[in-house]
Amino acid sequence: MAGALREHLVAYFEEHRKLIEADALQLLLSDRQPLALSRELMAQAGEGSPFVTREMVEEALARRASPMPRPAAAVPGLAPNANARRPAPSFELLTEGFTGPPVATQPIAAYGALFQSRYRALARMLRGRPDLPNLRPIRELRASEGGASVIGMVSGVRETAQRHHLILSVDDETGALEALVPRDSPAARIPFLPDEVVGLKLAFAKEPGRIPRVAHVERPDIPTTRPMGRASTPRRVIFLSDLHVGSRSFLGESWAHLVEFLRGRGPYPELAASIDYVVIAGDLVDGIGVYPRQERDLAIPDVVEQYAELGRRLSEMPDRLTVVAIPGNHDAVSPAEPQPALPANLAFQLPPNVRILANPSTFALSGVVVEAYHGRSFDDLIPAIPKASYARPTEVMRRMLEMRHLAPIYGDRTPLAPLPRDGLVIDPAPDILVTGHAHTYGVDRYRGVLLLNASTWQAETEYQRMRNISPVPARAAVVDLQSLALVTLDFSAGRPTVGGAES
Ligand SMILES: [Fe+2]
Repeated sequence: MAGALREHLVAYFEEHRKLIEADALQLLLSDRQPLALSRELMAQAGEGSPFVTREMVEEALARRASPMPRPAAAVPGLAPNANARRPAPSFELLTEGFTGPPVATQPIAAYGALFQSRYRALARMLRGRPDLPNLRPIRELRASEGGASVIGMVSGVRETAQRHHLILSVDDETGALEALVPRDSPAARIPFLPDEVVGLKLAFAKEPGRIPRVAHVERPDIPTTRPMGRASTPRRVIFLSDLHVGSRSFLGESWAHLVEFLRGRGPYPELAASIDYVVIAGDLVDGIGVYPRQERDLAIPDVVEQYAELGRRLSEMPDRLTVVAIPGNHDAVSPAEPQPALPANLAFQLPPNVRILANPSTFALSGVVVEAYHGRSFDDLIPAIPKASYARPTEVMRRMLEMRHLAPIYGDRTPLAPLPRDGLVIDPAPDILVTGHAHTYGVDRYRGVLLLNASTWQAETEYQRMRNISPVPARAAVVDLQSLALVTLDFSAGRPTVGGAES
Protein backbone atom coordinates (compact mmCIF):
# COMPACT_ATOMS: atom_id res chain seq x y z
CA MET A 1 0.00 0.00 0.00
CA ALA A 2 2.76 2.43 0.92
CA GLY A 3 4.33 1.78 -2.48
CA ALA A 4 1.07 2.50 -4.30
CA LEU A 5 0.53 5.67 -2.32
CA ARG A 6 4.11 6.75 -3.01
CA GLU A 7 3.43 6.32 -6.75
CA HIS A 8 0.20 8.31 -6.49
CA LEU A 9 2.00 11.15 -4.76
CA VAL A 10 4.79 11.28 -7.30
CA ALA A 11 2.19 11.24 -10.11
CA TYR A 12 0.23 13.96 -8.35
CA PHE A 13 3.23 16.28 -8.30
CA GLU A 14 4.15 15.37 -11.87
CA GLU A 15 0.65 16.31 -12.96
CA HIS A 16 1.26 19.68 -11.35
CA ARG A 17 4.71 19.94 -12.94
CA LYS A 18 6.71 19.62 -9.74
CA LEU A 19 9.42 17.21 -8.69
CA ILE A 20 9.33 16.08 -5.10
CA GLU A 21 12.61 15.39 -3.31
CA ALA A 22 12.99 11.96 -1.67
CA ASP A 23 13.03 13.12 1.96
CA ALA A 24 10.11 15.47 1.32
CA LEU A 25 8.16 12.50 -0.03
CA GLN A 26 9.09 10.45 3.02
CA LEU A 27 7.79 13.15 5.34
CA LEU A 28 4.58 13.46 3.34
CA LEU A 29 4.02 9.72 3.57
CA SER A 30 4.28 9.88 7.35
CA ASP A 31 1.29 12.25 7.48
CA ARG A 32 -2.20 10.85 8.06
CA GLN A 33 -3.63 12.69 5.05
CA PRO A 34 -0.73 12.84 2.60
CA LEU A 35 -2.80 13.95 -0.39
CA ALA A 36 -4.57 16.68 1.51
CA LEU A 37 -1.14 17.91 2.63
CA SER A 38 0.13 17.71 -0.96
CA ARG A 39 -2.73 19.89 -2.08
CA GLU A 40 -1.93 22.43 0.63
CA LEU A 41 1.68 22.37 -0.55
CA MET A 42 0.68 23.00 -4.16
CA ALA A 43 -1.55 25.89 -3.08
CA GLN A 44 1.50 27.51 -1.43
CA ALA A 45 4.16 26.47 -3.93
CA GLY A 46 3.53 29.03 -6.70
CA GLU A 47 5.12 28.89 -10.12
CA GLY A 48 8.75 29.58 -9.14
CA SER A 49 10.67 26.48 -8.20
CA PRO A 50 10.01 23.17 -9.94
CA PHE A 51 10.97 21.33 -6.71
CA VAL A 52 9.11 20.38 -3.56
CA THR A 53 11.58 20.24 -0.69
CA ARG A 54 11.48 18.82 2.82
CA GLU A 55 11.50 22.36 4.19
CA MET A 56 8.33 23.13 2.25
CA VAL A 57 6.61 20.07 3.73
CA GLU A 58 7.76 21.06 7.22
CA GLU A 59 6.36 24.56 6.70
CA ALA A 60 3.03 23.15 5.48
CA LEU A 61 2.85 20.93 8.56
CA ALA A 62 3.60 23.88 10.82
CA ARG A 63 0.85 25.94 9.12
CA ARG A 64 -1.79 23.41 9.92
CA ALA A 65 -4.06 24.64 12.65
CA SER A 66 -6.07 21.39 12.83
CA PRO A 67 -4.10 18.41 11.66
CA MET A 68 -6.89 16.08 10.62
CA PRO A 69 -10.61 16.10 9.91
CA ARG A 70 -12.22 13.98 12.57
CA PRO A 71 -11.54 10.29 11.87
CA ALA A 72 -13.93 7.56 12.89
CA ALA A 73 -11.70 6.50 15.77
CA ALA A 74 -12.19 9.92 17.42
CA VAL A 75 -15.93 9.27 17.83
CA PRO A 76 -16.86 8.03 21.29
CA GLY A 77 -17.62 4.34 21.12
CA LEU A 78 -15.76 3.77 17.86
CA ALA A 79 -12.65 1.66 18.03
CA PRO A 80 -10.73 -0.58 15.63
CA ASN A 81 -12.36 -3.92 14.99
CA ALA A 82 -10.93 -6.30 17.54
CA ASN A 83 -12.56 -9.39 16.11
CA ALA A 84 -10.82 -9.53 12.76
CA ARG A 85 -9.87 -13.09 11.91
CA ARG A 86 -7.26 -12.18 9.31
CA PRO A 87 -4.93 -9.26 8.79
CA ALA A 88 -6.97 -6.10 8.41
CA PRO A 89 -7.28 -4.87 4.84
CA SER A 90 -5.67 -1.49 4.42
CA PHE A 91 -7.74 1.67 4.48
CA GLU A 92 -6.19 5.08 4.00
CA LEU A 93 -8.08 8.34 4.14
CA LEU A 94 -6.59 10.61 1.51
CA THR A 95 -8.77 13.68 1.76
CA GLU A 96 -12.23 14.79 2.83
CA GLY A 97 -14.12 17.49 0.95
CA PHE A 98 -15.26 19.25 4.10
CA THR A 99 -12.57 21.37 5.72
CA GLY A 100 -14.27 23.29 8.48
CA PRO A 101 -16.11 26.58 8.59
CA PRO A 102 -15.39 29.51 6.24
CA VAL A 103 -12.62 31.91 7.23
CA ALA A 104 -14.42 34.96 5.83
CA THR A 105 -17.47 36.18 7.75
CA GLN A 106 -19.14 38.08 4.90
CA PRO A 107 -20.93 35.73 2.46
CA ILE A 108 -19.63 37.50 -0.65
CA ALA A 109 -16.03 37.28 0.58
CA ALA A 110 -16.50 33.64 1.61
CA TYR A 111 -17.91 32.63 -1.79
CA GLY A 112 -15.16 34.70 -3.43
CA ALA A 113 -12.57 32.60 -1.60
CA LEU A 114 -14.34 29.37 -2.62
CA PHE A 115 -14.36 30.25 -6.33
CA GLN A 116 -10.77 31.50 -6.18
CA SER A 117 -9.80 28.15 -4.68
CA ARG A 118 -11.64 26.30 -7.45
CA TYR A 119 -10.09 28.43 -10.17
CA ARG A 120 -6.58 28.00 -8.82
CA ALA A 121 -6.89 24.24 -8.27
CA LEU A 122 -8.18 23.58 -11.79
CA ALA A 123 -5.92 26.16 -13.48
CA ARG A 124 -2.92 24.32 -11.97
CA MET A 125 -4.03 21.21 -13.83
CA LEU A 126 -4.29 23.11 -17.14
CA ARG A 127 -1.13 25.19 -17.01
CA GLY A 128 1.74 24.02 -19.21
CA ARG A 129 -0.40 22.00 -21.64
CA PRO A 130 1.02 22.10 -25.19
CA ASP A 131 -2.47 22.81 -26.59
CA LEU A 132 -2.64 26.05 -24.60
CA PRO A 133 0.28 28.02 -26.08
CA ASN A 134 1.12 31.59 -25.08
CA LEU A 135 -0.98 31.38 -21.92
CA ARG A 136 -1.91 34.82 -20.58
CA PRO A 137 -4.00 36.43 -17.86
CA ILE A 138 -7.09 37.92 -19.56
CA ARG A 139 -5.99 41.47 -18.73
CA GLU A 140 -2.77 41.00 -20.69
CA LEU A 141 -4.34 39.73 -23.92
CA ARG A 142 -3.36 41.75 -27.00
CA ALA A 143 -5.28 41.26 -30.25
CA SER A 144 -2.18 42.26 -32.20
CA GLU A 145 -0.48 39.02 -31.13
CA GLY A 146 -2.80 37.00 -33.35
CA GLY A 147 -3.14 34.09 -30.93
CA ALA A 148 -2.97 33.38 -27.19
CA SER A 149 -4.54 31.10 -24.57
CA VAL A 150 -6.41 31.78 -21.35
CA ILE A 151 -7.79 29.76 -18.46
CA GLY A 152 -11.23 30.96 -17.41
CA MET A 153 -14.26 30.09 -15.35
CA VAL A 154 -17.42 29.99 -17.48
CA SER A 155 -19.79 32.79 -16.51
CA GLY A 156 -22.24 32.52 -19.40
CA VAL A 157 -23.04 31.10 -22.83
CA ARG A 158 -25.47 32.54 -25.39
CA GLU A 159 -26.21 31.90 -29.04
CA THR A 160 -25.92 34.40 -31.85
CA ALA A 161 -29.32 35.19 -33.36
CA GLN A 162 -28.69 34.24 -36.97
CA ARG A 163 -26.00 31.60 -37.21
CA HIS A 164 -26.36 30.07 -33.74
CA HIS A 165 -22.68 30.32 -32.93
CA LEU A 166 -21.88 30.38 -29.21
CA ILE A 167 -20.66 33.46 -27.38
CA LEU A 168 -18.78 32.19 -24.36
CA SER A 169 -18.07 34.45 -21.37
CA VAL A 170 -15.24 33.54 -19.00
CA ASP A 171 -13.47 35.19 -16.06
CA ASP A 172 -10.07 34.80 -14.53
CA GLU A 173 -8.55 36.66 -11.57
CA THR A 174 -7.63 39.62 -13.80
CA GLY A 175 -10.67 40.21 -15.95
CA ALA A 176 -13.48 38.94 -18.17
CA LEU A 177 -13.56 37.90 -21.81
CA GLU A 178 -16.09 37.04 -24.51
CA ALA A 179 -15.10 34.63 -27.26
CA LEU A 180 -16.91 33.11 -30.22
CA VAL A 181 -17.22 29.33 -30.51
CA PRO A 182 -18.24 28.43 -34.09
CA ARG A 183 -21.39 26.31 -34.06
CA ASP A 184 -20.02 23.24 -35.86
CA SER A 185 -16.48 23.33 -34.48
CA PRO A 186 -15.07 20.59 -32.20
CA ALA A 187 -14.91 23.23 -29.45
CA ALA A 188 -18.73 23.38 -29.40
CA ARG A 189 -19.19 19.61 -29.17
CA ILE A 190 -19.15 19.39 -25.35
CA PRO A 191 -21.61 21.89 -23.85
CA PHE A 192 -20.12 24.48 -21.54
CA LEU A 193 -21.47 24.39 -18.00
CA PRO A 194 -21.74 27.40 -15.68
CA ASP A 195 -18.76 27.79 -13.34
CA GLU A 196 -16.59 25.06 -14.90
CA VAL A 197 -12.95 25.99 -15.56
CA VAL A 198 -11.67 25.61 -19.13
CA GLY A 199 -8.54 26.41 -21.08
CA LEU A 200 -9.18 28.29 -24.35
CA LYS A 201 -6.81 28.65 -27.27
CA LEU A 202 -7.86 31.89 -28.95
CA ALA A 203 -7.41 33.30 -32.44
CA PHE A 204 -7.81 37.05 -32.84
CA ALA A 205 -9.37 38.55 -35.96
CA LYS A 206 -7.42 41.10 -37.99
CA GLU A 207 -10.35 43.51 -38.00
CA PRO A 208 -10.28 45.68 -34.86
CA GLY A 209 -13.14 45.33 -32.38
CA ARG A 210 -14.09 41.74 -33.22
CA ILE A 211 -14.12 39.22 -30.39
CA PRO A 212 -11.60 36.36 -30.54
CA ARG A 213 -12.55 32.92 -31.83
CA VAL A 214 -12.03 29.78 -29.75
CA ALA A 215 -9.74 27.47 -31.72
CA HIS A 216 -9.50 24.75 -29.05
CA VAL A 217 -11.00 23.93 -25.64
CA GLU A 218 -8.89 22.12 -23.07
CA ARG A 219 -10.56 20.66 -19.98
CA PRO A 220 -8.72 19.55 -16.82
CA ASP A 221 -9.82 15.93 -17.45
CA ILE A 222 -8.18 12.66 -16.37
CA PRO A 223 -4.59 12.23 -17.63
CA THR A 224 -4.41 9.58 -20.33
CA THR A 225 -1.31 8.05 -18.76
CA ARG A 226 -1.06 7.68 -15.01
CA PRO A 227 -0.30 4.89 -12.54
CA MET A 228 -3.38 2.83 -11.73
CA GLY A 229 -3.97 1.80 -8.13
CA ARG A 230 -4.46 -1.94 -7.80
CA ALA A 231 -4.46 -4.27 -4.79
CA SER A 232 -1.50 -6.61 -4.57
CA THR A 233 -3.52 -9.38 -2.91
CA PRO A 234 -7.10 -10.59 -3.56
CA ARG A 235 -9.48 -8.00 -2.09
CA ARG A 236 -13.03 -7.04 -2.98
CA VAL A 237 -15.36 -4.19 -2.16
CA ILE A 238 -19.14 -4.06 -2.33
CA PHE A 239 -20.76 -0.73 -3.19
CA LEU A 240 -24.17 0.29 -1.86
CA SER A 241 -26.01 3.59 -1.61
CA ASP A 242 -29.25 5.27 -0.59
CA LEU A 243 -30.35 2.87 2.14
CA HIS A 244 -33.03 5.29 3.39
CA VAL A 245 -33.41 3.39 6.65
CA GLY A 246 -36.53 4.67 8.42
CA SER A 247 -38.55 4.97 5.20
CA ARG A 248 -41.66 2.82 4.77
CA SER A 249 -40.13 1.90 1.40
CA PHE A 250 -36.85 0.57 2.84
CA LEU A 251 -36.37 -2.85 1.23
CA GLY A 252 -35.93 -4.86 4.43
CA GLU A 253 -36.32 -8.23 2.74
CA SER A 254 -33.69 -7.51 0.07
CA TRP A 255 -31.42 -6.17 2.83
CA ALA A 256 -31.86 -9.39 4.82
CA HIS A 257 -30.74 -11.38 1.77
CA LEU A 258 -27.75 -9.07 1.35
CA VAL A 259 -26.78 -9.73 4.97
CA GLU A 260 -27.21 -13.50 4.50
CA PHE A 261 -25.01 -13.33 1.41
CA LEU A 262 -22.29 -11.36 3.22
CA ARG A 263 -22.38 -13.85 6.11
CA GLY A 264 -21.73 -16.64 3.61
CA ARG A 265 -25.15 -18.25 4.11
CA GLY A 266 -26.53 -17.47 0.66
CA PRO A 267 -25.33 -18.42 -2.79
CA TYR A 268 -21.74 -17.52 -3.77
CA PRO A 269 -20.22 -17.96 -0.28
CA GLU A 270 -16.68 -17.83 -1.71
CA LEU A 271 -17.40 -14.47 -3.32
CA ALA A 272 -18.81 -13.23 -0.02
CA ALA A 273 -15.73 -14.42 1.88
CA SER A 274 -13.48 -12.44 -0.47
CA ILE A 275 -15.21 -9.13 0.32
CA ASP A 276 -13.30 -6.89 2.73
CA TYR A 277 -14.94 -3.51 2.30
CA VAL A 278 -18.42 -1.99 2.05
CA VAL A 279 -18.79 1.55 0.71
CA ILE A 280 -22.11 3.37 1.17
CA ALA A 281 -22.49 6.53 -0.90
CA GLY A 282 -24.93 8.48 1.26
CA ASP A 283 -28.61 8.75 2.20
CA LEU A 284 -27.96 6.31 5.02
CA VAL A 285 -31.36 7.15 6.52
CA ASP A 286 -34.50 8.78 5.11
CA GLY A 287 -34.21 11.79 7.44
CA ILE A 288 -37.03 14.14 8.32
CA GLY A 289 -38.37 17.22 6.56
CA VAL A 290 -36.34 16.59 3.41
CA TYR A 291 -39.34 17.03 1.08
CA PRO A 292 -42.95 18.14 1.53
CA ARG A 293 -45.10 15.82 3.69
CA GLN A 294 -42.28 13.29 4.05
CA GLU A 295 -43.73 12.16 7.41
CA ARG A 296 -46.36 10.14 5.52
CA ASP A 297 -43.53 8.01 4.03
CA LEU A 298 -41.69 7.35 7.30
CA ALA A 299 -41.79 4.12 9.29
CA ILE A 300 -39.51 5.73 11.92
CA PRO A 301 -40.43 9.40 12.39
CA ASP A 302 -37.53 10.22 14.77
CA VAL A 303 -34.18 10.85 13.09
CA VAL A 304 -32.12 9.65 16.09
CA GLU A 305 -34.11 6.41 16.02
CA GLN A 306 -33.46 6.13 12.28
CA TYR A 307 -29.69 6.12 12.96
CA ALA A 308 -30.20 3.59 15.79
CA GLU A 309 -31.97 1.34 13.28
CA LEU A 310 -29.17 1.96 10.76
CA GLY A 311 -26.72 0.85 13.45
CA ARG A 312 -28.71 -2.37 13.97
CA ARG A 313 -28.83 -3.05 10.23
CA LEU A 314 -25.10 -2.46 9.75
CA SER A 315 -24.22 -4.59 12.77
CA GLU A 316 -25.94 -7.54 11.05
CA MET A 317 -23.06 -7.55 8.57
CA PRO A 318 -19.91 -9.48 9.48
CA ASP A 319 -17.80 -7.29 11.75
CA ARG A 320 -14.62 -8.19 9.84
CA LEU A 321 -15.80 -5.83 7.05
CA THR A 322 -14.46 -2.29 6.86
CA VAL A 323 -17.55 -0.18 6.18
CA VAL A 324 -17.10 3.34 4.81
CA ALA A 325 -20.14 5.64 4.93
CA ILE A 326 -20.61 9.20 3.70
CA PRO A 327 -23.76 11.29 4.16
CA GLY A 328 -26.22 12.37 1.47
CA ASN A 329 -28.88 15.03 1.22
CA HIS A 330 -31.28 12.96 3.39
CA ASP A 331 -28.80 12.64 6.27
CA ALA A 332 -28.78 14.77 9.42
CA VAL A 333 -25.89 17.07 8.50
CA SER A 334 -25.78 20.42 6.74
CA PRO A 335 -27.15 20.00 3.21
CA ALA A 336 -24.59 22.40 1.73
CA GLU A 337 -21.76 20.60 -0.06
CA PRO A 338 -19.15 19.50 0.85
CA GLN A 339 -21.08 17.98 3.76
CA PRO A 340 -19.34 17.16 7.04
CA ALA A 341 -19.31 13.61 8.37
CA LEU A 342 -22.14 12.52 10.66
CA PRO A 343 -21.72 14.10 14.10
CA ALA A 344 -20.57 11.95 17.01
CA ASN A 345 -23.96 12.17 18.73
CA LEU A 346 -25.45 10.14 15.87
CA ALA A 347 -22.39 8.18 14.72
CA PHE A 348 -21.93 6.51 18.11
CA GLN A 349 -24.97 4.36 17.30
CA LEU A 350 -23.12 2.71 14.40
CA PRO A 351 -20.93 -0.36 14.91
CA PRO A 352 -17.18 0.12 15.44
CA ASN A 353 -16.17 -1.19 12.01
CA VAL A 354 -17.91 1.77 10.30
CA ARG A 355 -15.75 4.70 9.21
CA ILE A 356 -17.80 7.86 9.04
CA LEU A 357 -16.49 10.31 6.45
CA ALA A 358 -17.51 13.58 4.80
CA ASN A 359 -19.28 13.92 1.44
CA PRO A 360 -17.26 13.78 -0.76
CA SER A 361 -14.25 11.80 0.49
CA THR A 362 -11.27 10.21 -1.21
CA PHE A 363 -9.66 7.12 0.28
CA ALA A 364 -7.51 4.19 -0.75
CA LEU A 365 -8.72 0.62 -0.29
CA SER A 366 -5.69 -1.67 -0.57
CA GLY A 367 -4.07 0.91 -2.86
CA VAL A 368 -7.14 1.59 -5.05
CA VAL A 369 -8.17 5.25 -4.86
CA VAL A 370 -11.93 5.68 -4.45
CA GLU A 371 -13.70 9.03 -4.68
CA ALA A 372 -17.12 8.72 -3.04
CA TYR A 373 -19.69 11.46 -3.67
CA HIS A 374 -23.38 11.24 -2.94
CA GLY A 375 -24.42 12.86 -6.23
CA ARG A 376 -26.79 15.69 -5.35
CA SER A 377 -25.41 17.68 -8.28
CA PHE A 378 -27.14 15.27 -10.69
CA ASP A 379 -30.20 17.45 -10.05
CA ASP A 380 -28.39 20.39 -11.68
CA LEU A 381 -26.17 18.61 -14.20
CA ILE A 382 -28.85 16.38 -15.76
CA PRO A 383 -31.00 19.34 -16.93
CA ALA A 384 -27.85 21.17 -18.08
CA ILE A 385 -26.35 18.34 -20.18
CA PRO A 386 -28.22 17.40 -23.37
CA LYS A 387 -29.45 13.76 -23.38
CA ALA A 388 -28.40 13.19 -19.75
CA SER A 389 -30.94 11.43 -17.54
CA TYR A 390 -31.28 9.75 -14.17
CA ALA A 391 -31.44 6.47 -16.08
CA ARG A 392 -27.87 7.00 -17.36
CA PRO A 393 -26.03 8.64 -14.47
CA THR A 394 -22.57 7.57 -15.66
CA GLU A 395 -22.85 10.04 -18.58
CA VAL A 396 -22.91 12.80 -15.99
CA MET A 397 -20.08 11.19 -14.00
CA ARG A 398 -17.90 11.15 -17.12
CA ARG A 399 -18.56 14.87 -17.47
CA MET A 400 -17.57 15.36 -13.81
CA LEU A 401 -14.21 13.75 -14.56
CA GLU A 402 -13.68 15.92 -17.66
CA MET A 403 -14.31 19.00 -15.51
CA ARG A 404 -12.48 17.46 -12.53
CA HIS A 405 -15.36 18.82 -10.47
CA LEU A 406 -18.33 17.12 -8.81
CA ALA A 407 -20.76 20.02 -8.57
CA PRO A 408 -19.69 23.13 -10.48
CA ILE A 409 -23.03 24.93 -10.83
CA TYR A 410 -23.66 27.59 -8.20
CA GLY A 411 -27.09 28.91 -7.27
CA ASP A 412 -29.30 26.06 -8.42
CA ARG A 413 -30.51 22.98 -6.52
CA THR A 414 -27.16 21.93 -4.99
CA PRO A 415 -26.28 24.31 -2.16
CA LEU A 416 -22.53 24.97 -2.03
CA ALA A 417 -20.81 25.66 1.31
CA PRO A 418 -18.51 28.72 1.11
CA LEU A 419 -15.43 26.94 2.48
CA PRO A 420 -11.93 28.33 1.88
CA ARG A 421 -10.95 25.22 -0.12
CA ASP A 422 -13.20 23.87 -2.87
CA GLY A 423 -13.53 20.29 -1.68
CA LEU A 424 -15.61 19.33 -4.73
CA VAL A 425 -12.59 19.51 -7.05
CA ILE A 426 -11.66 15.94 -8.07
CA ASP A 427 -8.02 15.73 -7.03
CA PRO A 428 -6.30 13.29 -7.19
CA ALA A 429 -7.71 11.42 -10.18
CA PRO A 430 -9.42 8.36 -8.66
CA ASP A 431 -9.40 4.74 -9.80
CA ILE A 432 -13.09 4.44 -8.89
CA LEU A 433 -15.70 7.22 -8.79
CA VAL A 434 -18.82 6.12 -6.93
CA THR A 435 -22.06 8.06 -6.52
CA GLY A 436 -25.67 7.34 -5.52
CA HIS A 437 -28.62 9.73 -5.32
CA ALA A 438 -30.11 8.80 -8.71
CA HIS A 439 -31.65 5.59 -7.24
CA THR A 440 -30.76 3.90 -10.52
CA TYR A 441 -27.71 1.79 -11.32
CA GLY A 442 -24.95 2.41 -13.81
CA VAL A 443 -21.47 1.17 -14.63
CA ASP A 444 -19.02 2.60 -17.15
CA ARG A 445 -15.30 3.22 -17.66
CA TYR A 446 -13.58 6.43 -18.64
CA ARG A 447 -9.83 6.70 -19.16
CA GLY A 448 -9.28 3.77 -16.83
CA VAL A 449 -11.57 5.10 -14.09
CA LEU A 450 -14.44 2.82 -13.05
CA LEU A 451 -17.64 4.88 -12.89
CA LEU A 452 -20.28 3.40 -10.66
CA ASN A 453 -23.65 4.79 -9.70
CA ALA A 454 -24.56 2.49 -6.83
CA SER A 455 -28.14 1.29 -6.42
CA THR A 456 -30.66 2.13 -3.71
CA TRP A 457 -32.29 -0.04 -1.01
CA GLN A 458 -35.54 1.89 -1.16
CA ALA A 459 -38.52 1.05 -3.41
CA GLU A 460 -40.16 3.73 -5.50
CA THR A 461 -41.76 6.51 -3.47
CA GLU A 462 -44.65 8.73 -4.46
CA TYR A 463 -42.25 11.67 -4.57
CA GLN A 464 -40.08 9.85 -7.12
CA ARG A 465 -43.14 8.94 -9.20
CA MET A 466 -44.02 12.62 -9.21
CA ARG A 467 -40.51 13.48 -10.41
CA ASN A 468 -40.57 10.72 -13.01
CA ILE A 469 -37.63 8.77 -11.53
CA SER A 470 -37.87 4.98 -11.95
CA PRO A 471 -35.56 3.39 -9.38
CA VAL A 472 -33.39 0.34 -10.00
CA PRO A 473 -33.14 -0.91 -6.41
CA ALA A 474 -31.32 -3.67 -4.53
CA ARG A 475 -28.32 -4.10 -6.82
CA ALA A 476 -24.92 -4.52 -5.22
CA ALA A 477 -21.72 -3.97 -7.18
CA VAL A 478 -18.81 -6.20 -6.16
CA VAL A 479 -15.47 -4.93 -7.46
CA ASP A 480 -12.23 -6.92 -7.52
CA LEU A 481 -9.53 -4.52 -6.33
CA GLN A 482 -6.77 -6.35 -8.20
CA SER A 483 -8.39 -5.91 -11.62
CA LEU A 484 -11.35 -3.51 -11.08
CA ALA A 485 -13.56 -6.19 -12.68
CA LEU A 486 -17.14 -5.73 -11.52
CA VAL A 487 -19.96 -8.18 -10.88
CA THR A 488 -23.54 -7.07 -10.21
CA LEU A 489 -25.63 -8.95 -7.67
CA ASP A 490 -29.38 -8.43 -7.96
CA PHE A 491 -31.27 -8.78 -4.66
CA SER A 492 -34.51 -7.26 -5.96
CA ALA A 493 -36.25 -10.65 -6.02
CA GLY A 494 -34.78 -11.86 -2.71
CA ARG A 495 -31.92 -14.34 -3.07
CA PRO A 496 -29.19 -12.78 -5.18
CA THR A 497 -28.65 -13.53 -8.83
CA VAL A 498 -25.57 -12.50 -10.73
CA GLY A 499 -26.66 -9.75 -13.08
CA GLY A 500 -23.51 -10.17 -15.12
CA ALA A 501 -20.21 -8.41 -15.23
CA GLU A 502 -20.54 -4.66 -15.85
CA SER A 503 -24.33 -4.80 -16.03
FE1 LIG B 1 -31.52 8.90 -1.95
